[in-house]
Amino acid sequence: MTQIKVNLGKRSYQIIIGPGALSQLSSWLKKLKLGQAAIVVTNPTINRLYGRLIKQALQHLGVELHFGQVADSEKSKSHSVCINLVGRLAQLDRGKGVFVIALGGGVVGDLAGFAAAIYRRGIPYIQVPTTLLAQVDSSIGGKVAIDLPCGKNLIGSFYQPRLVISDINLLSSLSKQQIRSGLAEIIKYAIIADKGLFKYLELHLDKLLQRNPKALQHVVQVCSKIKARIIEQDETDTKEKRMVLNFGHTAGHAIEAASGFSQNYPHGQAIALGMLVACEIARQLKMTPDSTIKRIGKLIFKAGLPTKISGLSLKDILQAQAHDKKFSAGKNRFVLPVAIGKVVVKEDIPQQVIDKAIKSRMTREKPSLSDYE
Ligand SMILES: NC(=O)c1ccc[n+]([C@@H]2O[C@H](COP(=O)([O-])OP(=O)(O)OC[C@H]3O[C@@H](n4cnc5c(N)ncnc54)[C@H](O)[C@@H]3O)[C@@H](O)[C@H]2O)c1
Ligand SMILES: [Zn+2]
Repeated sequence: MTQIKVNLGKRSYQIIIGPGALSQLSSWLKKLKLGQAAIVVTNPTINRLYGRLIKQALQHLGVELHFGQVADSEKSKSHSVCINLVGRLAQLDRGKGVFVIALGGGVVGDLAGFAAAIYRRGIPYIQVPTTLLAQVDSSIGGKVAIDLPCGKNLIGSFYQPRLVISDINLLSSLSKQQIRSGLAEIIKYAIIADKGLFKYLELHLDKLLQRNPKALQHVVQVCSKIKARIIEQDETDTKEKRMVLNFGHTAGHAIEAASGFSQNYPHGQAIALGMLVACEIARQLKMTPDSTIKRIGKLIFKAGLPTKISGLSLKDILQAQAHDKKFSAGKNRFVLPVAIGKVVVKEDIPQQVIDKAIKSRMTREKPSLSDYE
């Protein structure tokens, strides 16, 4: 079992990573004393798989446990679902001190964390991430949010969890597509901060796709550490430090929004395309050697992530992009790679460069490995 501390003064917390980590939940909650009633926010898929496990993990704790199920969809990150959840919290909160357990992927984590942030101006919550994406990324750092029809995460806050439990065993039931979605964020970490991780991915991609527990544990540990260190330096995204985590997300979020958050473009898959758009912008601006861009493209392709945009027009994507928070005061802002392990933030990129980069991902030809050799 690995323990990583996120050092944020009074808001510090631990990330516990390992196979079977959930068995430690009860002893951690005894130490943390978060309240006498808890609501486990989850969805029917995860509840069916792991609801019993969490009940078992908490049965001797003496905490009144309730389950709050939301639909298995990005659409659950909506104000109506959130207000219902806050209503449930108010019902349970009869002077007992109520807290929230987010048991699920990024959707459940973002929604449950945001509900915890706004009920009574903040009650404690813990993250039990069940997807690879949530373990390496969304459960850490306190960005909690719900969506508006015109864009993702537009109603949100910074609100840190009190504990993150990343149980590697829970990843065994993920589909290949969900593993790939997490891999996109892992590739992101490698490009922004860790060339050693990039090399590891090049060598061990197959093991990760086959859900090898040791390989999964390794990447969850490495990425959690990278994210923890970034958050410590820039908790609220006001310096350039945390902004680098948005690599691939400017165009990526626009692709997700333009597709109406459909299953065609889950978060990680959209981010993979966003990273390729950012690479193409960097290539046009002569910031990155072609060989580096090919290496990135090859890894994304071999991970089985999309490398071409289909079913969306340039106009739809640009419109969605204009709503993005990363377009501040009319200026566009992209995180661009300069080498594996190093990125820079660049503003005011000429529109024709962006258009050309997006269009380069829209060709009709079938993608193939030879594109990157
Ligand atoms: N807060 C942040 O910092 C941050 C960072 C990255 C992404 N996000 C958000 O995270 C969301 C995407 O998260 P996600 O990719 O985890 O998607 P998700 O939460 O929709 O989960 C993907 C699918 O996997 C299923 N699932 C979850 N755990 C499972 C398991 N163990 N076994 C089998 N199936 C399982 C879910 O039911 C769902 O169908 C987006 O809303 C994105 O905006 C937030
Ligand atoms: Zn992301």
